[in-house]
Amino acid sequence: MTAAHSQLRDLGLPPRDAEQTELHPDLNRAHVRFINLGKTYDGNVHALQGIDLAIQRGEVFGIIGRSGAGKSSLIRTINRLEQPSSGRVLIDQVDIGDFDEDRLVALRRRIGMIFQHFNLMSAKTVWQNVELPLKVAGVPKPQREQKVRELLELVGLQDKHKAYPAQLSGGQKQRVGIARSLVHDPEILLCDEATSALDPETTQSILDLLREINQRLGLTIVLITHEMAVIREICDRVVVLEYGHIVEQGPVWEVFGNPQHEVSKTLLAPLQHGLPQELQNRLQPTPGQADAAVVLRLQFTGNDTDEPDLAALFAALGGRVRLLQGGVERIQGHALGQLLLAVNGSPHDADVLRSRAGNWAQQVEVLGYVV
Ligand SMILES: Nc1ncnc2c1ncn2[C@@H]1O[C@H](COP(=O)(O)OP(=O)(O)O)[C@@H](O)[C@H]1O
Ligand SMILES: [Mg+2]
Repeated sequence: MTAAHSQLRDLGLPPRDAEQTELHPDLNRAHVRFINLGKTYDGNVHALQGIDLAIQRGEVFGIIGRSGAGKSSLIRTINRLEQPSSGRVLIDQVDIGDFDEDRLVALRRRIGMIFQHFNLMSAKTVWQNVELPLKVAGVPKPQREQKVRELLELVGLQDKHKAYPAQLSGGQKQRVGIARSLVHDPEILLCDEATSALDPETTQSILDLLREINQRLGLTIVLITHEMAVIREICDRVVVLEYGHIVEQGPVWEVFGNPQHEVSKTLLAPLQHGLPQELQNRLQPTPGQADAAVVLRLQFTGNDTDEPDLAALFAALGGRVRLLQGGVERIQGHALGQLLLAVNGSPHDADVLRSRAGNWAQQVEVLGYVV
């Protein structure tokens, strides 16, 4: 247990449901836990309802959902920027619901946060922006200087310490935001659309930095984004919210490889390659003539960690197999993707081809025929 960790434990009461959590060792180790959490605004906007969720120590946990689904409301209950209307939030098994102001201040030092629009002070330099929360906390000057120097080095901004926010790029501003969020050696970092204002290349460099912080400092990261590629790149697990409810959750490879809920499918659709328009136009529901090719869509959902064995697949299909489109990528060591194949001159009919392909892919569809 780290010093910071035990410090946090010292702030709290014993968990009210100690008996229950002992029966669930996984939950007992959860870093952040929501129990039947609800949040209602103005008496009638039900932003969150019945949220039960456990985030493990050291994981990068993603939250996705459409605009207004309740993502920000949820993440902001972790540091009590939002007060839940019902249910409980436990940090390290400690219920933060009845914390007084002093304990909330201490709690918020253990939880860093970064934002889409960086929230920097424009009249202060990079150095002063990072130093400010340490000053507010009454940390003596020598320690402040050492900490700011260390963090500017971590985020790669040593030589920008005298610059003002207006003189920085978006990526550099977010690096200042990250440095500032780490001044109190937090154990949790909350990121609300932290890369959404950045171009793809800068996003990548910020994600690399977050990954490094996660691994080097052992931080638990809770991350909201509307960019599915960000989740794929950095998260271990993901939850999908819709109208304040959890509709799906699981390891990223599982949710991305085989999304179950309509909302998840819609959110993930941009990552999937649709049928090329030109092929769509030529596709017919029946063979029409003897030499028509059957078009098959094979999905690899990642349940099998091996990449598809193409030689075996093609041999099983028989005839002439052409690759129309497709590819496989790896998420968390699982092979995910799809292949669109056109099969001509096979001795088998479409149903047999589908069932034979099913030995090599998790889902197979006959899309139609092309001549
Ligand atoms: N301070 C607030 N006052 C009233 N309604 C709010 C407030 N914050 C959020 N809401 C409402 O709660 C719902 C969830 O909002 P939010 O948590 O911001 O969703 P998301 O981050 O997924 O876009 C929305 O309907 C939103 O309009
Ligand atoms: Mg939001």
